[in-house]
Parts: sequence; C-alpha cells; structure tokens
Amino acid sequence: MKTIFSGIQPSGTPTIGNYIGAMKQFIELQNEYNCYFCIVDEHAITVPQEPQKLRQQIRSLAALYLAVGLDPQKATIFIQSEVSAHAEAGWIIQCNTSIGELERMTQFKDKSQKNGRAGVSAGLLTYPPLMVGDIVLYNADLVPVGDDQKQHLELTRDFVERFNKRYAQKNQEILTMPEVKIAEQGSRIMSLQEPTKKMSKSDTNVKGFISMLDEPAVIRKKIRSAVTDSTGVIEYNKEEKPGITNLLNIYSAATGQTVEELVQAYEGKGYGDFKADLAEAVVALLEPIQVRYQELLASEELDMILDEGAENARLVANKTLQRMKNAVGLGRKVRR
Ligand code: TYM
Repeated sequence: MKTIFSGIQPSGTPTIGNYIGAMKQFIELQNEYNCYFCIVDEHAITVPQEPQKLRQQIRSLAALYLAVGLDPQKATIFIQSEVSAHAEAGWIIQCNTSIGELERMTQFKDKSQKNGRAGVSAGLLTYPPLMVGDIVLYNADLVPVGDDQKQHLELTRDFVERFNKRYAQKNQEILTMPEVKIAEQGSRIMSLQEPTKKMSKSDTNVKGFISMLDEPAVIRKKIRSAVTDSTGVIEYNKEEKPGITNLLNIYSAATGQTVEELVQAYEGKGYGDFKADLAEAVVALLEPIQVRYQELLASEELDMILDEGAENARLVANKTLQRMKNAVGLGRKVRR
C-alpha cells in the first residue's frame, strides 16, 4: 500500500477552499492508501498566533478532520508538535537548503512583501523545509494538496533528489520521492469578494470566505453578496468571469454535479436563483459536518484518537529521522 501525507494549518477555521482542495481528496484517498493527516501547528506559528486561540483551533481542526469523514481506523490523525522528529528533521533540511531557494517561494515573497521583510519571522522563510520534513518523515509517495502548495512540493522533490544523491550509501536511497496530487477541479477556490485572489482562512475580510463552521444564515448572506459581474449569464470562463466561475466550482464540488450540467441547468436563469440554490447546496454539505463536529469536540474520544495518532506517527517518523542523522553523520552510531 502506498503512503499519503498531508496537513492543514490550525491558523483559523478551515474554509470551503480547504475542504474542496484538500479534505475532500483525503476522504476519497483514505481507503486506498496508508494515510497520515496532520494538524501542522508548528507551521501556524510562523506568523503571530494568540496562544489560547491556537490551542483551541488545533483541537477544532482535529474534530473537523473526523467530522468530514476521516476514519482513525484507516488514517493516522495527529498533531505535528507532538512528534518532535518534525522539528529535528526540519533543522537538518534547512541546513541542506539554500537561502536563495527559500527566497524564491511565492508564499514567502507575498507575505514578506505585505508585512515588510525585516519584520517577518525567520520561520516564515524556513517554513518550506519544515514542510519537506513532514512529507519525508512518513516516506510519503503522494501528497494531496491545493494548487497553492505546488511550489513547496517541487522544492520537496528537489530536496529529496539532492539529499539522496549527496548522502546515499551504496546507492541506497534514504528518502522516498513524493508526487504531488492536485484535485482535478476545485484546487484553487477563490475569494468571494475578490475572485482573482485565493480564498484564505486568514483573510481579514470575512466576507471573502465561507468557514466550515459558518452558520446557515451567514453562508446564505456571504454567497448572496459574492462578487460576480454585470452580464447575468452563467458560464464558465476563468479570465472574463472569475466570480461566477468560482461559484460554479464550489457548486460542483458541493453537489457532485459537473460544471457542464450546472451551466445547462441554469441556462436563461439569473444570478439570484443560482446563488440561492448554491447557498442551499453549501448549507446541505456543511450542516451534517457541523453536527458531528460539535459532538466530537465535546468527546474524550477525540483526545484518545490524537494520542494514538501521535504514538503511531512517532514510530515511523523517528525511524526516518535516525536514517537522516546517520546519513549526515550526526551523533554516534545507534546500536540496535
Ligand atoms: P493550508 O493550511 O494553507 O491549507 C491546507 C490545504 O488546503 C489547500 N487550500 C486550498 N485549496 C483550494 N482552494 C483554496 N482556496 C485553498 N486554500 C488552501 C492547500 O493547498 C492545502 O492543501 N503548507 C501547508 C500545510 C502543510 C502541508 C505539509 C501540506 C504543512 N506541511 C505537508 C502537505 C504536506 C499549508 O499552509 O496549507
């Protein structure tokens, strides 16, 4: 069985963008792969977080993982900071990655431009090596992510190739080469307010995203006020009609209907009808998830699953970490 690793940052409540681009893939893949799904809290502190809120968001994300249908019998669900191998591997990887490579990352360029380079944390720059560590520690073959993580996956692949070449003994590979898996549709859900910008859980304009825990009335309101255009024709055209195209992608992901079917069904109808139906489809998708979420959040079962997940994860991660330490020459030879 091949192995999958993926993670989501507990830097806010996940949006339907995270659901469509990432979680939806996780649910589909858990039956065919050996899966590790992580709450990557160490990534979240690359930008300032309020400690109490972060704690709460970590547990909340874990409950959401289960509420959407991830099954702890099939997948290991755990919190990154509870497996110390991540931070250790991250260090070794940083020392084998150049600053130039990291400065080229678009996410770093965007975030450091917005906040001023001198003022952002060093962790924001060295975040991709931590992500590389997440992936290689579990010998992942496949990494399901949204479109915005493509560049980080390319960096991961470059790193694995370089590390294996530099440190391999007797041509034996140390790290597994991962492949990226991007959903065919919905890999880049856009902001409802600025449809040329990615939907993000940390957007300061809350009208731009639908959080997975938004109440039905809020969902309806946000979709009603989603930016479209003045033509009133429902068609799929990313360049000329980014707003309605984005809504079509969301509609399709929420219902399983294809974009073509939707375009046909709404021929001659206006944006008002379309948006009202879309809102009901999103409510119908999220309501049962929210009910399960509330039950899980209050249960001890959630903590037991996370304890067990961390234990499982440590076993695999520590083995890879030791292989990396041996390769680089850190410490003494471990006699086992
Ligand atoms: P994060 O927390 O920003 O997003 C989690 C996942 O959701 C996807 N995603 C989207 N997909 C479609 N449309 C959107 N608007 C949208 N916004 C987010 C992301 O592509 C991602 O798959 N660095 C990662 C977390 C991470 C990780 C890893 C992922 C850390 N280590 C190892 C995979 C493997 C991140 O910040 O994701």
